[in-house]
Amino acid sequence: MRLTTSTAAGALLLATTGIQADIVMENELIISNEVFDLNYAMDSEVEAVRQRNETQFYCIFRSKWTVEDHPEHFPKLARFSTPVLFSHTKQYTPFLKNREANYGIEIIAEEGFTSKMQEQLDQAGDMVLDYGEARGFYLNRKHYDLNIAYFPPVVVTDDHPYLSGIAGFDPSPDWFTGFYMMDTRDEYSGKFWSHFKVQSYPWDAGTDGGTIYEDVDHELEFPEPVHRITPENAQNKIFVSPMGDEVLPVAEFECILHVCPAEEPGCRKPDWPPKNGCDVLLYPECDNYCDPEVDEVCERCVRESILDPEILYYPDCCAAGREPKTGKDCAGRRSGATSLCVGNVVSWIFLSSWIAFWMM
Ligand SMILES: *[C@@H]1O[C@H](CO)[C@@H](O)[C@H](O)[C@H]1NC(C)=O
Repeated sequence: MRLTTSTAAGALLLATTGIQADIVMENELIISNEVFDLNYAMDSEVEAVRQRNETQFYCIFRSKWTVEDHPEHFPKLARFSTPVLFSHTKQYTPFLKNREANYGIEIIAEEGFTSKMQEQLDQAGDMVLDYGEARGFYLNRKHYDLNIAYFPPVVVTDDHPYLSGIAGFDPSPDWFTGFYMMDTRDEYSGKFWSHFKVQSYPWDAGTDGGTIYEDVDHELEFPEPVHRITPENAQNKIFVSPMGDEVLPVAEFECILHVCPAEEPGCRKPDWPPKNGCDVLLYPECDNYCDPEVDEVCERCVRESILDPEILYYPDCCAAGREPKTGKDCAGRRSGATSLCVGNVVSWIFLSSWIAFWMM
């Protein structure tokens, strides 16, 4: 049965009759492409069965929520709240398409707090193995590369091979992004993936009736089922692509496998996250060179705002429109040379458009 109505009556019907709506099962598992896209995955040499070594995934949460891809009503100050990631058995699902959201999901989607979710995961006992949180962040709309967060390692085993991840949109009534039941093993080779990328989409937790990002609380008396936001059901076209025909991913989870020697469980991959906070999965070696295009050691720059990471490196702070933390400031460097006056003008224009942008 396809659930075409998202009214409270529909939800009630679903709840009282236990109809499984259109959850498609294949080998007892939910067909993942209705939930997320696994758009890159590479095998490791590590057989999942009877694995004695501890296997951990190190993941980065990357925002793809942009005003270019999701133009409608894009909030001025947009933030992802604390992204969470955990490993579990197939008996545990944090949320399911067309089922009512549990309280942990509701709180993440509405408030961005993860304590309820943590409680529920604790109570799930053996079904949940490991759990990690990354830092929520405000979107930097000038430097997209900074819109990432590092997860601590999450342990997986052959018994707990599934990963699920969630992060709330802030502001939003009850919208979140995430994926569930991502198998970290290649089902054909039986090996863990060594590296994969998951694209995740916006979802509506069905617990709040708000229709724009900034809506005040509008708790639904009869919660609706959790559903993925599509061009057909999007409120005020929020999240719909500029062409109006699709909803593009809003986040990406990229993970790499790390294997501990058998005698050293709980080992840690060194330099995670790297000191300069750069995206080492997107730009390998950027912990040594802050910019993959530039083959030089970097300068530490002054934070422009709370949207920046505390420690920020660029090959050339001034060229990146920032002030260096040490040495001559950008004005000092430019003084005296005509060509460098242009630099000042450029940075002035840069700054004014930055200010104008935020005041818009
Ligand atoms: C597993 O641990 C053993 C013993 O420490 C080690 O020799 C082996 O290389 C480890 N396997 C992997 C894939 O790291």
